[in-house]
Amino acid sequence: MSSKARPRSLYLCQECGQESPRWQGRCPACGAWNSLSEFTPAPAAPLPSRPAAPARELEGIAEDEQPRLSTGLGELDRVLGGGLVPGSLVLLGGDPGIGKSTLVLQAALAVARSGRGVLYVSGEESPAQVKLRARRLALPGRGLFLLSETDLTAALREAERLDPGLLIVDSIQTVYSQSAPQAPGSVVQLRQCTLELMQWAKPRGVPVILIGHVTKEGEIAGPRLLEHLVDVVLYLEGERFSSYRLLRGVKNRFGSVAEVGVFEMTGRGLTEVPNPSELFLAERGEGSVGSLVTPIMEGSRCLLVEVQALTSPSFVPAPRRTANGVDFNRLVLVSAVLTRRLGLHLGNQDIVVSVVGGLRVQEPAADLAVALAIVSSLRDRPLPADLVALGEVGLSGELRSVGHLERRLAEAARLGFRRCLLPRSSLRRQPARAGLELLPAASLREAVRLAFARADGHGGPPLP
Ligand code: TYD
Ligand code: MG
Repeated sequence: MSSKARPRSLYLCQECGQESPRWQGRCPACGAWNSLSEFTPAPAAPLPSRPAAPARELEGIAEDEQPRLSTGLGELDRVLGGGLVPGSLVLLGGDPGIGKSTLVLQAALAVARSGRGVLYVSGEESPAQVKLRARRLALPGRGLFLLSETDLTAALREAERLDPGLLIVDSIQTVYSQSAPQAPGSVVQLRQCTLELMQWAKPRGVPVILIGHVTKEGEIAGPRLLEHLVDVVLYLEGERFSSYRLLRGVKNRFGSVAEVGVFEMTGRGLTEVPNPSELFLAERGEGSVGSLVTPIMEGSRCLLVEVQALTSPSFVPAPRRTANGVDFNRLVLVSAVLTRRLGLHLGNQDIVVSVVGGLRVQEPAADLAVALAIVSSLRDRPLPADLVALGEVGLSGELRSVGHLERRLAEAARLGFRRCLLPRSSLRRQPARAGLELLPAASLREAVRLAFARADGHGGPPLP
């Protein structure tokens, strides 16, 4: 064969999918050693293609031309940004056994019930196994077509025949394309299969849900590669021994990634949890030491979460700081401010801060609750059970205002809290309301005094 006729080969990192025109010892993108291997791009699979559509003027395109497809699960729809966008690729990742297949099957059955056919391609389970799961969900299976197939070309041919309103591939790591020689699950196959699915889905306007396996490090196998290719990446997460599941967006071309969906795994599949705050506070003890509730924003929704802190004398030269569910750097900052501005002796204390229920709080608005929980644990004094606190802590110990104040106050009032500690500067901008007694504080020192004055019924613990 002459060199002209030969397709140009590329080098592809087997770790992250980075392409490179020449071989290198180390991947320039992810830094993995010896991970590049030669790869000849394959021509796309021979599928019946549709004629290319003409270009259209923006003016003439209606926004609701292709309405989103509801999955029948309000929480899933919300995390998606309002349902499935036609022709979009959605990747759902999560640990084995967390409930990915269950969630997707529930969505598939709901879409099928609404009259659109659904094709569920399973490379992992036989139709009988999927049927068993559907039986647990106690939902009728009309309109849902199962295909146990790992050959993607064959699966797409079947999809072409059925013309479904939704296509599901469970999982992307188990299917392979005939046009690439590598093994299923390899970076080359993942890429090829995802591209072929996209080429099929986009012109037909059919949304595709891909289930993805997660590596030991908690990323979808072939992570960056897949995340770049698809439109939406969602993770289903949960604590090992808890029945609650959180669905969060990591990437979403059509919505906010701040949205979190909350589900509970029951004997009849995943049910939506409409009042997550109640759930996160369910096991809260009355006026316990080192515990405080704070209203946080998760996307458009306000949730109340319990922040717990435990301080204990350290026996190592550099005392430990452990953050579960709160940002580690915020914890370090809050501890430093408590030490320097309030004179607390935290330098010889290990500190553990946790958010109950497995939520991850990214907002600085939780700073004040973290600080007060630490003080409460250090001084061994409980905080009032009817108090919530919110506010960002600045380096000089000042409290900074936070957004969405009204929504946070309303949620706290709805769940029976009666008082709210908040930055004084927040009140200047927004009117007080929501039936809570507001306790404004300009600094962390003032907030500590107010919080413990209420707890003790007198002047509160002396502060240095
Ligand atoms: P599955 O959806 O198979 O997980 P994944 O696809 O992420 O590997 O769900 C697995 C677990 O969920 C399994 O332990 C059984 C449990 N489960 C229930 O508790 N109730 C149910 O109704 C169903 C269908 C599954
Ligand atoms: Mg599964």
